[in-house]
Amino acid sequence: MDYATLIEERHSLRAYQPTEVEEDKLGSLLHAANRAPSAGNLQAYQIVAVRSPATRQALARAALDQDFVAQAPLVLVFLADLGRARRKYGHRGETLYSLQDATIACAYAQLAAHDLGLVSCWVGAFRKDAVRQAVGAPPEQVPVALLPLGYPAEQPRITSRRSLSDLVRQI
Ligand SMILES: Cc1cc2nc3c(=O)[nH]c(=O)nc-3n(C[C@H](O)[C@H](O)[C@H](O)COP(=O)(O)O)c2cc1C
Repeated sequence: MDYATLIEERHSLRAYQPTEVEEDKLGSLLHAANRAPSAGNLQAYQIVAVRSPATRQALARAALDQDFVAQAPLVLVFLADLGRARRKYGHRGETLYSLQDATIACAYAQLAAHDLGLVSCWVGAFRKDAVRQAVGAPPEQVPVALLPLGYPAEQPRITSRRSLSDLVRQI
């Protein structure tokens, strides 16, 4: 799919078929995330790929009972690795770069998912300690995004955007 079509046609989707996401597609998603830029190329993040139904349930509870998180056959959890960024970049690495690294990686994975015929929804509303506990992450890793993935069980809702004149200031 060409890039213009990809960004035009990607929409959040919150209902998934039970069909598993194939291993090779998971590999492609992770490869795409791994190609994302990162501060100093440190890649100060961790990805946890969750297929376990019990863990998906725990993630849905952590995500303030957003049940579609458990319904998705695959959930990628993106965590900022504060310590990894702090060691090179100090406070800025810990408070900004690690979060940005994880965020960009998730964005790459989300776009790759659409290219592979999958649907997803970025989930940012969650209790971070509950997510950390669900995936067994250490305290230095802070959850930034959940990305439930699967095949669509409904039509996407088309969202609008702010106008560029509102969004952009040219100087
Ligand atoms: C940082 C962030 C947090 C989000 N958190 C949630 C969430 O917790 N639950 C949810 O259903 N959608 C969540 N979304 C998805 C947005 O609602 C969605 O991207 C937005 O409405 C635009 O729709 P579109 O993705 O279909 O273009 C989040 C998106 C982002 C980028």
